[in-house]
Amino acid sequence: MALKITVIGTGYLGATHAAAMAELGFEVLGLDVVPEKIEMLQRGEVPMYEPGLEELLRRHVAGIEGSTGRLRFTLDWAELADFGDIHFVCVNTPQKHGEYACDMSYVDAAIASLAPHLKHPALVVGKSTVPVGSADRLAAYLAEHAPAGEDAELAWNPEFLREGFAVQDTLHPDRIVVGVRSERAEKLLREVYATPVAEGSPFVVTDFPTAELVKTSANSFLATKISFINAMAEVCEAAGGDVAKLAEAIGHDDRIGKKFLRAGIGFGGGCLPKDIRAFMARAGELGADQALTFLREIDSINMRRRGQMVEMAREAVGGGSFLGKRVAVLGATFKPDSDDVRDSPALNVAGQIHLQGGQVTVYDPKGMDNARKTFPTLGYAGTALDAVRGADVVLHLTEWREFRELDPAKLGEVASTRVLLDGRNALDPELWRHAGWTYRAMGRPTA
Ligand code: UDX
Repeated sequence: MALKITVIGTGYLGATHAAAMAELGFEVLGLDVVPEKIEMLQRGEVPMYEPGLEELLRRHVAGIEGSTGRLRFTLDWAELADFGDIHFVCVNTPQKHGEYACDMSYVDAAIASLAPHLKHPALVVGKSTVPVGSADRLAAYLAEHAPAGEDAELAWNPEFLREGFAVQDTLHPDRIVVGVRSERAEKLLREVYATPVAEGSPFVVTDFPTAELVKTSANSFLATKISFINAMAEVCEAAGGDVAKLAEAIGHDDRIGKKFLRAGIGFGGGCLPKDIRAFMARAGELGADQALTFLREIDSINMRRRGQMVEMAREAVGGGSFLGKRVAVLGATFKPDSDDVRDSPALNVAGQIHLQGGQVTVYDPKGMDNARKTFPTLGYAGTALDAVRGADVVLHLTEWREFRELDPAKLGEVASTRVLLDGRNALDPELWRHAGWTYRAMGRPTA
């Protein structure tokens, strides 16, 4: 009989995972503790912007015309436990308020709610990003609190999806990593991922701590690459070099690679910043803090970029105060193809200039609602053109395709001063200069 799968937590990760599991042919039951989320998903609506996710969901949610009906949702833990052979835990693990450490309360609460209902053999699979050692602790908890005892087993299967590519990354992962303690757990997970493995995704089997560490070390490596190139941008600025050319040239070396070497205002979002901080905090608890002191530098290079963008903008409006200056900000989300503004460098830069007296107008293709909720006192415009109207300087802070397709001549007609600062090194300098703009980018020569 085909495996039945449940997904606990239907946020970003959970909603995508649940829909992907249904796409792979499994019967899936998703659970969330927020009734409004469940109601939305039952209607086939996704509470965030993610390309392709709503279509995938609508293909499978029961009750939607023409769907396979393989995907359902519930609020009921007993129903969930009774239904599933495998339970994926996909709740979030944010940064603790005022600390570096990771807040495990949602994961702990999910396991505590599920455990008493686990009466028949089941595999509980953690997907959330957690401090190393969590899986050991949670496995012991399950064995003690589940009526099925040792038959309620745990495995760890970190998720590497990127926002904006969530569906593609889930259905065709670069690799599948499973931390297991038994052949049974490995066999079940091989069955779950048989399709992507057959299509070429490597399947890496590890112990618990390694599986947990693969995720945090991968994100640390990515953060390091970005901060490395941003450090080179600082040196290029001081020496008159061009970081975009430098990145292209070093990227030709296969050992270095071209990806994740785009200099700019740095990384943000719900993962990289909090994951490197939680990793440092956990290493400290383990007595291995020295091994990760470099991550402190990675974090500070990254945070420094935002201040440097503010200073570039200040210089562009005359070098003094922002008072009375109109600043257009293109982009609010932490990356394109997402409506996520969590720890967004773009919104942070906009906010800093606003708090220093600048009259900031923000436009973002998909992030306006979230930006307004996060920073209601900023000015917002309905189009890029309206944001730029009367601006003394234009800041390009999130590299949406829409911004690459803008007509610099048209924008030039409505701007007060034609100065564009490219905080993402993603626009074509020649195009803008040709239309009469002063184009400046981070880590690149002025003209
Ligand atoms: C990241 C990891 O890539 C993913 O594997 C993990 O599961 C979750 O965290 P995500 O947060 O969606 O994914 O975004 P990512 O594409 O990694 O970008 C993170 C940030 O780095 C963005 O703010 C982006 O603008 C910035 N970035 C990325 C750069 O500044 N330069 C680059 O060259 C690449």
